[in-house]
Amino acid sequence: MADNRRRAAFLGVGRYAPEKVLTNSDFEKMVDTTDEWIIERTGVRERRIASDKQAASDLAIPAALKALETAAVSPEELDLIILGTVTPDFFFPSTACIVQDKIGAKNAGALDTSVGCSAFIYDCNIASQFIENGRYERVLVIGVETLSKIMDFTDRNTCVLFGDGAGAAVLGPAKRDGGILATHMKADGSLGYLLEMPGGGSRQPPSHESLERRMHYIKMAGREVFKHAVRSMVEAGRYVLEEAGYEGEDVDLLIPHQANWRIMSSVADKLKIPHGKVFVNLDKYGNTSAASIPIALSEALEQGRIKAGDLVLNVAFGAGFTWAANLVRWE
Ligand code: UT7
Repeated sequence: MADNRRRAAFLGVGRYAPEKVLTNSDFEKMVDTTDEWIIERTGVRERRIASDKQAASDLAIPAALKALETAAVSPEELDLIILGTVTPDFFFPSTACIVQDKIGAKNAGALDTSVGCSAFIYDCNIASQFIENGRYERVLVIGVETLSKIMDFTDRNTCVLFGDGAGAAVLGPAKRDGGILATHMKADGSLGYLLEMPGGGSRQPPSHESLERRMHYIKMAGREVFKHAVRSMVEAGRYVLEEAGYEGEDVDLLIPHQANWRIMSSVADKLKIPHGKVFVNLDKYGNTSAASIPIALSEALEQGRIKAGDLVLNVAFGAGFTWAANLVRWE
């Protein structure tokens, strides 16, 4: 697949998860649920929860510093920071700007994206364009969520699913034939209402009424989202494989968005990727939305599940609806 195109590669990856753990048994005390139901229907066993004092940037910064350290890149070398989250510190300023200041990335632009669980892949795909066209040398991409702050701990349909965490990657020009080989990004806003936080924005500013109606929490039509998640992740995976001239069986590791083991296994089956080549850490973290792929990527590298030369397929689906993939020849 060698060609002369300049490609973007992952130079370093890092993650951070808050210390506090909530197990399924903890949820048994809060809502009408059971450990068995949660494991069987989702695959989640426990999740991390940010403390009252921790906002998104507090999780993002240690993940970013780890990614920079692994990449041997200093904050001053960064040209751009793209941070994906639906749980920013504030509406504005952006969480990316808070991170930019606190890590001392004096020469970088910074922006947040709101792409739900697809954010990290979208943001890496956007970053890759700036690197491919030679505009930038070093881009920091962060996926971070403090979903516990918007989880309705009285709603068993949603509260057992999510968790908090952060993951980050430094992207730069590939040195050899590897890097991001193909990218895909899609959206269908007509279905956005199936997964949303209805209150707090300009449509429904915070009010006594919005609080009483519990509008500042995640609302999800789980079964509908499930169907679309499988279909869209398969479409995205097929698209990048085909574009780069590969089949599912060529993939060394599939890193799917960690939302539900049943979704991941179904996507893998449809892409003809054996379950042994699917990376899963959902049991420890739950669904951490924008942070799910970079946390998984970081753990996969640490566990030696990715070696130089491996073909890694990242796929995600999230609020919007949005879905995305990229196919990476690891350097
Ligand atoms: O990250 C962005 C994308 N998000 C996703 O990809 C999530 C996609 N959706 C899912 O993962 C699954 O739909 C869920 C895990 C959310 C739900 O699983 P399901 O198998 O689709 O369950 P369901 O919503 O169809 O509900 C089945 C039953 C219902 O009871 P009835 O109406 O059959 O009596 C629910 O009330 O399970 C009940 N239920 C629960 N029972 C015990 C729902 N949540 C719970 C719970 N504990 N926590």
